[in-house]
Amino acid sequence: MSQLAEFLATNQNKNVEELKELLRIPSISAQSEHKEDVQTAASWIADKLKNIGMEHVEVIQTEGHPIIYADWLHQENAPTVLVYGHYDVQPVDPVHLWETPPFEPTIRDEKIFARGATDDKGQLFLHIKAVESLLKSEGKLPVNVKFCIEGEEEIGSPHLPAYLTDNKEKLSCDVVVISDSDMWDKGVPAITYSLRGLCALEVSLHTANTDLHSGSYGGGVQNANHLLVQLLSSLHDTNGKVNVAHFYDDVVELTEFEKEQMKALGLDEEKVKESLGLTDLTGGEKDYSYAERISSRPTLEINGMWGGFQGEGTKTVIPNEAHAKITCRLVNNQQPKKIQELIKKHLEEFAPKGCTIKVSLQDTGNPFLTPIDSPMIQKAAEAYQNVYGKSPVYKREGGSIPIVSDFNQALNVPVVLMGFGLPGENLHAPNEHFHLENFNKGILTICSFFELIKK
Ligand code: BES
Ligand code: MN
Ligand code: MN
Repeated sequence: MSQLAEFLATNQNKNVEELKELLRIPSISAQSEHKEDVQTAASWIADKLKNIGMEHVEVIQTEGHPIIYADWLHQENAPTVLVYGHYDVQPVDPVHLWETPPFEPTIRDEKIFARGATDDKGQLFLHIKAVESLLKSEGKLPVNVKFCIEGEEEIGSPHLPAYLTDNKEKLSCDVVVISDSDMWDKGVPAITYSLRGLCALEVSLHTANTDLHSGSYGGGVQNANHLLVQLLSSLHDTNGKVNVAHFYDDVVELTEFEKEQMKALGLDEEKVKESLGLTDLTGGEKDYSYAERISSRPTLEINGMWGGFQGEGTKTVIPNEAHAKITCRLVNNQQPKKIQELIKKHLEEFAPKGCTIKVSLQDTGNPFLTPIDSPMIQKAAEAYQNVYGKSPVYKREGGSIPIVSDFNQALNVPVVLMGFGLPGENLHAPNEHFHLENFNKGILTICSFFELIKK
């Protein structure tokens, strides 16, 4: 056994125990009552990076949650890898549906259950463990390594883009590696070569200057809820297409090769239906397959709507205001800000008579698409092959990691998305978990990747 393999074998339990420590910190970035906890997680990671031998470790305060930087730069003639990950997690509600508490990591069936287990603490920590294992077993790394770790991914990375553009020299590298995505299936690794972007809006609709008695006024005046439903239903046509003018103008269609590849992957729709308790998968555009619709087509969703009376019993009221939250998943080459404007214009134009509307534009994040034949991606594929005995599939992810496109543009280097999560690990949901097999194999895969790219 190589020194590295031996080191990893002896330290498996210790590694998991340390991951548990990190998972116990409730670093929920969206909730201000957890602000201190997010700081604690940042300090915990910074201390860990120092302890394993990383240098120039910094916790950089922002107006939100901190960014962590660290490097090890002692291989003059080797390339530099920048590892990105996020230590913030999603809120835990509905908490009563967790079998064990979200911040008391528990192992069942060789999986570790906790909020952040797969998204993204477990996947981030395996990079830290890869670096530690190499440094402790070989005394050095095969390549130069920088870490740039944030605590605001789950709230749209508001402060990281400025940090990237202000620190291009410091962050300069030959490749960015990120593990914050999924494998294809158990034992089948995947490299994600595309992510969707997103944009968010909120619309408020107002009618009379007060709520009205539906006996005195019903039949005579407009109802804000009705008008909002009417307005929102204008956003899609009967074929499931987004009905906003020019919405699809910049969408890059799949290549024939990609279509073939997607078909060959054979996403099992029956299995999806069964796991979701659904009888059909007919959301979205009729002319595209389910696999395409959830990964390479843009969408517009109403995420929330409220208005009128929601309390116990009946209230004979005509509400005078109604609201909705909307987000889109976007694909290359759609520009989130442009799409927001198109939707705003649509909502204003289609606003029914008898109301005023206000549209507020919220977060945006760019989509990402990269060629799969780039040398760094091929090295990543080799690393997976070495550890899993199988070459990875190449897939488009329907979710978003908005900062990926910023890395790509600010640093002008390839970004390789090497995921170790598995579909069904309940990210953002109760009982989130991470398979320990992929935690351990992930460490090995990253070590192998570092070896493969050194010149
Ligand atoms: N790691 C996820 C993205 C992801 C989701 C990868 C599913 C693979 C499978 C990331 O942490 C995430 O949740 N992104 C958010 C972005 C948003 C909060 C700006 C998303 O996709 O909703
Ligand atoms: Mn994530
Ligand atoms: Mn997430």
